[in-house]
Amino acid sequence: MYNSKIVGLGKYLPDNIVTNKDLENKIDTSNEWIVERTGIKERRHIVKGDGNTTASMGAKAAKIALENANMSAYEIDLILFATLSPDYYMPGSGVFVQNILNIPTCPAMDIRNACSGFVYGVATADQFIKTGMYKNILVIGSETQSGAIDMTTRGRDIAVIFGDGAGAAVVSRNESKESGILSSHLHSQGEHVDSLVMKAPNTNKWVTEIVNENNPEDSSYYPYMNGKMVFKNAVLRFEEVINEGLIYNNLQTEDIDLLIPHQANLRISQFIQRKLNLRDDQVYNNIMRYGNTTAASIPIALTEAWEEGRLSEGNILVLAAFGAGFSWGSTIIKW
Ligand code: UT7
Repeated sequence: MYNSKIVGLGKYLPDNIVTNKDLENKIDTSNEWIVERTGIKERRHIVKGDGNTTASMGAKAAKIALENANMSAYEIDLILFATLSPDYYMPGSGVFVQNILNIPTCPAMDIRNACSGFVYGVATADQFIKTGMYKNILVIGSETQSGAIDMTTRGRDIAVIFGDGAGAAVVSRNESKESGILSSHLHSQGEHVDSLVMKAPNTNKWVTEIVNENNPEDSSYYPYMNGKMVFKNAVLRFEEVINEGLIYNNLQTEDIDLLIPHQANLRISQFIQRKLNLRDDQVYNNIMRYGNTTAASIPIALTEAWEEGRLSEGNILVLAAFGAGFSWGSTIIKW
């Protein structure tokens, strides 16, 4: 059985910074409320016409990841694209990246596990490499949330949290058994589908109907979140799934050199840190600058941590995510 490892990382954030003050001018909210409840100070939003889409941002992050891996796009055997905000309903966003990067005929598939999408992607890549089927896999997380946000007071809980951006990793076969992806642990719980959801368009309500109805009261095509329910489940599942990974690998919380939690809310990260008794330097957070970029949040944070020199050979890195579905997961890596 082969082993896999992350050999290149990249990120892309749109230039347009949206501060809490900017939001104060649009909706009934305040910088104090946002900072106190979420830790977020600013986020990025694409600007219509700036050329950015979910797929193009993903391709930009992927290009950097390939450069950092010292690899050409032709060497990629599989593209895994995690997003909840694809360019089109069909086809998926992975094939757009394939087209932008001029990769001829490798398979490309999308992963629709919202905030957990990148962890699901890394786990999938690891399995394809472990079986020997593929050698080099691009795992991308990219989101354009800004287009589907209800910028009225009705949608303010969502509007202040979410941001746009992309991150990517090249996962490759690793000849050494001493380092690489040690294990991944994935879960979902469908009974909570309604707690974090965007209900339209759907199989019973096509886009044409929504357009024809033109009903401003209808908020079903905006994301809905039962914030308290999500928060309560997130803190529980994050702790559980991180411990599951540690126990599986015979590791203790003291062995964690860096935990990169999905950047959902700074209070959630701080809660997990306290529950696991981790020092500040063991947990990476950048939600203050980018907001919650769902599937992109972990690869953006991972790239930034790596750029800052926070990862050294032999370090134990833990990735953990929780989000819509609910679905959650962790990946334990020896860097
Ligand atoms: O990526 C994974 C998915 N998302 C998450 O993990 C998010 C999990 N949940 C959360 O982060 C928090 O629940 C929120 C940040 C969304 C909300 O914080 P909260 O402390 O749970 O606030 P709340 O929903 O209980 O709302 C408290 C008050 C309400 O007013 P009343 O009813 O007390 O008068 C809300 O209407 O705050 C109000 N509120 C706001 N006020 C100012 C809600 N959103 C805002 C806002 N600005 N943006």
